[in-house]
Amino acid sequence: MEIVIKDTYEEIAALAGERIAESVRARPDITLGLATGSSPLGIYDYLARAHLKGLSFKHVRTANLDEYVGLSPAHPQSYRYFMEREFFAKTGVSPKNIGFPRGDAEDLEKECERYDLYLQKWARDIQILGLGANGHIGFNEPGTPFDSVTHITELKESTRLANSRFFKTAEEVPSKAITMGIKNILDSKSIILVASDTYKAGAVKDMLEGEISVNCPACALRGHKNVTVYLDKKAAKLLR
Ligand code: F6R
Repeated sequence: MEIVIKDTYEEIAALAGERIAESVRARPDITLGLATGSSPLGIYDYLARAHLKGLSFKHVRTANLDEYVGLSPAHPQSYRYFMEREFFAKTGVSPKNIGFPRGDAEDLEKECERYDLYLQKWARDIQILGLGANGHIGFNEPGTPFDSVTHITELKESTRLANSRFFKTAEEVPSKAITMGIKNILDSKSIILVASDTYKAGAVKDMLEGEISVNCPACALRGHKNVTVYLDKKAAKLLR
């Protein structure tokens, strides 16, 4: 595991962004695993600027980590909508190359199976991850087995509260999500995790120095051979 620590979020986002841009230049039909939330925004910004300078995403394939149960892709708080606004529309990813779990599927179990087959077909070359303050990756909350595949999960109250900043009220945050499992995440050839700010410092310390157990989903990354963790100084402040 490689750990990169810089003073600011902007620096780590640019480093991670350049690494992904280089990979797209080298392999225009690369498959990217994508995350939502605040952590990847600087990376998406960097890639949008690279696109304006000529980098094509036309042949890039994508697979997002998760989606809220009950929200359609057109819902402004859905992760599909977020990705359209923050990444797909700005980089010209082709709609036919976008993979996403449907939170509004009638039969959610079938949807998990469908998405899992998509993930098996399109092995990720790079998976981008943020880190929950409780150690979650994707929506794999503490207690999720490391061999889990795409499944429906009950969100912890702390996760709903953290994500309520994107909604009008905390009650509006859905209580369930459909998420790639930890095994799906570990199947990616390489993984880039970005964490910034003081409130992530405890989770960062647990992920890198804590006991490996299902109580710490991000600890599963220590069993993967190609992980780079990008931290700003504040998120790294508790590390030995
Ligand atoms: C998002 C996701 C989550 C977030 C995590 C951190 O698709 O799966 O695991 O990466 O909750 O969120 P931010 O980056 O908003 O702090």
